[in-house]
Amino acid sequence: MSKIATLEIDGNKFELPIVIGSENEAAVDISKLRDQSGVITLDPGYKNSGSCKSEITFLDGELGILRYRGYAIEDLAEKAHFLEVSYLVIFGELPTASQLLQYETDIRKYTLVNEEMKSIIDGFPKTAHPMGVLSALTSALTAFNPKSVNAENEKEMYEAVCKTMGKFLVIATWTYRKSMGFPLNYYDNTKGYVENFMHLMFELPTGPYTPDPVVINALDKLFILHADHEQNCSTSTVRMVGSSHAGLFASISAGVSALWGPLHGGANQAVLEMLEDIQKDGGDADKYLAKAKDKNDPFRLMGFGHRVYKNFDPRAKIIKKAADEVLSTLGVDDPILSIAKRLEESALQDDYFKSRNLYPNVDFYSGIIYRALGIPTDMFTVMFAIGRLPGWIAQWKEMRENKEPIGRPRQIYVGYPLREFKRSQE
Ligand code: ACO
Repeated sequence: MSKIATLEIDGNKFELPIVIGSENEAAVDISKLRDQSGVITLDPGYKNSGSCKSEITFLDGELGILRYRGYAIEDLAEKAHFLEVSYLVIFGELPTASQLLQYETDIRKYTLVNEEMKSIIDGFPKTAHPMGVLSALTSALTAFNPKSVNAENEKEMYEAVCKTMGKFLVIATWTYRKSMGFPLNYYDNTKGYVENFMHLMFELPTGPYTPDPVVINALDKLFILHADHEQNCSTSTVRMVGSSHAGLFASISAGVSALWGPLHGGANQAVLEMLEDIQKDGGDADKYLAKAKDKNDPFRLMGFGHRVYKNFDPRAKIIKKAADEVLSTLGVDDPILSIAKRLEESALQDDYFKSRNLYPNVDFYSGIIYRALGIPTDMFTVMFAIGRLPGWIAQWKEMRENKEPIGRPRQIYVGYPLREFKRSQE
């Protein structure tokens, strides 16, 4: 049975359809509101606005639920691996064994990055932030692959997916190699995707490198947990840019830039920087807890709180366990991590945090794992981007397949009314 909402403006009534999602989420469809009534809705930060209908990810912030294509994140993190999940997120179904094998083989066809990309990377100073370099390199891939993908052609879209999955991983690790002054590595097609990440990052020409399987497993999980998160800032950016029919690489490059910000993916870097600051300042976690609660102090506890999860972040629960495993396997004894533990324990018992439902989010623990693996702090957000890539691709693909219109919000103008042109006198 279809439901209707009634809106009354100055005595005039307008009927607006209510759209119900497959998990019974309800939305008032205001797409015809302006035509009918002359008014628009105002919702800065889009806290109450759905930008699209999507079949990819379901999340319920109140209940702490996250599902990709109907599968619980807990199941996927435990039973699947990252490439399998990427296939699910992008194409809608779990791959069969032969589809998965084919997908892995097809990704390998595209893991070689054009050598000329190296001269682009050479143009950056060593001190450049890896996210800036990654955004630029992703955009540069457009120049080497100028034919924009026809999203409605299944074969072309499939190839574009494999190409993006293959090349993005390589250029993401190149941002680190550049910053270290190391030679840029090549993908090794005899190894797995996540294992390759470790080789691309850490293998040096001077000797062999064997990553610990516990580490590979933890990274694989982290990538799965980040694979999609419906219409967050970077994903909405990818959809928005793609809605102008800009290409996949250009749209993803914009997503990388959006992810960079400290209120979004940059939070994992901000967490570690905050912990380092606390350590330099004597290691008093309670002092920083007090600062976070002080309304006259702009300081926020990084890695706490979430726009959508208001009870707990289901990803944080999973990754906390993986963090404990990695730390005990690698035998890491790090004062920064002790500060993190103290902060977490105190905040979870503190009324300010409890009453506002501020819990550690996925970034709080992911930063801790990355640090234990020897990944430099400014690479943390790049790690997030590698994990989020399948989500960006899937959302871009869905937006184009659904033939969504160009994204173009409106505004309420609050500036000057018409003024007479007159230069001001000194
Ligand atoms: N530390 C201290 N106080 C906080 C924090 C924090 N980390 N987060 C929110 N609050 C307080 C706010 O001051 C506000 O208090 P008030 O009601 O007394 O005014 C209340 O909690 C609600 O905060 P909002 O900013 O309205 O919450 P919103 O949903 O808009 O913000 C956000 C969510 C941006 C994530 C915020 O919690 C934050 O800045 N956290 C730290 C940064 C972070 O970890 N970001 C990662 C997000 S996860 C991700 O992108 C994968």
